[in-house]
Amino acid sequence: MKEGARPFVVGLGGTTRPDSSSQRALERALAVARSLGAKTELFAGPFLAALPHYDPYEPASGGERARFMDAIRRADGVIIATPGYHGSISGLVKNALDCLEDLRDDVRPYLDGRAVGCIVAASGAQAAVSTLGALRSVVHALRGWPTPLGASLASPRLFDPEGEFCDARDAWQVEGVAQQVMAFAGLGLRAPASPV
Ligand SMILES: Cc1cc2nc3c(=O)[nH]c(=O)nc-3n(C[C@H](O)[C@H](O)[C@H](O)COP(=O)(O)O)c2cc1C
Repeated sequence: MKEGARPFVVGLGGTTRPDSSSQRALERALAVARSLGAKTELFAGPFLAALPHYDPYEPASGGERARFMDAIRRADGVIIATPGYHGSISGLVKNALDCLEDLRDDVRPYLDGRAVGCIVAASGAQAAVSTLGALRSVVHALRGWPTPLGASLASPRLFDPEGEFCDARDAWQVEGVAQQVMAFAGLGLRAPASPV
């Protein structure tokens, strides 16, 4: 990031449900990032659902997938939100992350050097926690830097009718993730170059 420039934070995640709680939590995290000076772009559930299944034999084409890749390339920070589906990341979110294979040969491959905030919404605490661990493992594999704080949300009702978190601890988790992404975004993190 150039000195004085505003950090660019990309959000991806949510589900195709009209009232997706993981997407709402992601939107809240991006709003916090904006309040701290970021520019943001959201790739939400319906966008992710329109991406084709990642196919290693099908070279990346243009269109919406290229727009998504371009945003990740330019990102100083990324925030990912997934529901817990059967104890892990949803296929929708994992497919989007698999598409980052398009960035394999970049100077800054995959999520290299990017702070990555991880948010999970699930019905129960067990899936919220196991899914957060799974998501962090994927981010590590993509050379991203998961923030120390991740959000595992498992309240019976996440948002009230006004769109506010029902539980202040959930708000604290999501806002904390966004704050940590912003704190790291300006540091210009970069992993050492691979010797091979
Ligand atoms: C296919 C499917 C599998 C799910 N599996 C789990 C699970 O293993 N554990 C859990 O606590 N909740 C599970 N849930 C509940 C979701 O994690 C929860 O409803 C989540 O908030 C949905 O995200 P959304 O509101 O963004 O759509 C599952 C829901 C669906 C639709």
